[in-house]
Amino acid sequence: MSQAAFASPARPYSKALRTAFLPESTVRDLPPTPRIVAIASGKGGVGKTWFSLTLAHALLRENRESRILVVDGDFGLGNVDIQLGLRHKFDITHILKRQISITEAITPCFLADAGGSCQLDILPGHSGASTLSLLGHDRIHELLEQLRTLSGYDMILIDLCAGIDWSARAIAAAADTLLLVTTEEPTALTDAYAVLKLSMRDRQLDGLRETNAEIVVNQAAGIRSGQAVYGVLAEACERFLHQTPRLAGVIRRDRRVSETIRLQRPFLGDHSGSVAAGDIMRIARHVAGDVSVIRRPVMSVG
Ligand SMILES: Nc1ncnc2c1ncn2[C@@H]1O[C@H](COP(=O)(O)OP(=O)(O)O)[C@@H](O)[C@H]1O
Ligand SMILES: [Mg+2]
Repeated sequence: MSQAAFASPARPYSKALRTAFLPESTVRDLPPTPRIVAIASGKGGVGKTWFSLTLAHALLRENRESRILVVDGDFGLGNVDIQLGLRHKFDITHILKRQISITEAITPCFLADAGGSCQLDILPGHSGASTLSLLGHDRIHELLEQLRTLSGYDMILIDLCAGIDWSARAIAAAADTLLLVTTEEPTALTDAYAVLKLSMRDRQLDGLRETNAEIVVNQAAGIRSGQAVYGVLAEACERFLHQTPRLAGVIRRDRRVSETIRLQRPFLGDHSGSVAAGDIMRIARHVAGDVSVIRRPVMSVG
């Protein structure tokens, strides 16, 4: 990875940096910048896309005033739109090829919910876009910069491709928070460790000492077994990488997840009382509280 591309701090446009020398009144008027949360995994099929969308829904349930954007960052095999049953005109390939602006490609999606529908904004991906793999680091970096300066969003969730593709690594290293999803399977765990190792190394090359990674154990047989799996991963990281990612949470396996994906319906809308829904709501509260992303309604949108 090019060191120059990510030599700046993780949040070059963060309010803290931009406002260091400005009077209080000016600081208040600056639009807040969105937090970037990347969702990655080592192995495919662990539930990243479902988790990204359901976490976004959970965050909206926590605060209906908040604005969340989900970006399909699986540049080769994006399927966020498929899980949602979303119809759209443009996708991320048009932006990367500079044919349109980001805001032109953002498509609103209304998630059915008992308390009224929630609006989630989607930057759809494209499945089978082989040309995207030819795009360089600079273009990916530029996209990230554009996302960071999008006004009006509290948080941007980027659903990455599985594995150690360079584009996923670049985004994972630069994100404010990296949520690494694994299951309890040894193969998923081994691959998750490999991603953690590379991501910690990438960040160190960029001058960022602290890991931004937190672990999500999905499809767990139970909370305790999920926590035990996290314990194994955390111990290996502590021992060999000398950094320990925190546990964002455990989501229990629920067969209704695949049923709602098949029906292209939001899981929380149909099964809000399920244990998996409770698990994901807890993670949403952790993520929102942890990174202070959810802007309270009193603050104005720039
Ligand atoms: N908590 C869960 N309980 C049961 N099945 C799940 C759960 N999370 C994900 N799945 C299953 O995993 C499959 C893969 O999910 P997906 O979001 O497409 O994974 P990825 O994006 O990591 O490839 C889904 O079809 C769904 O059936
Ligand atoms: Mg996926």
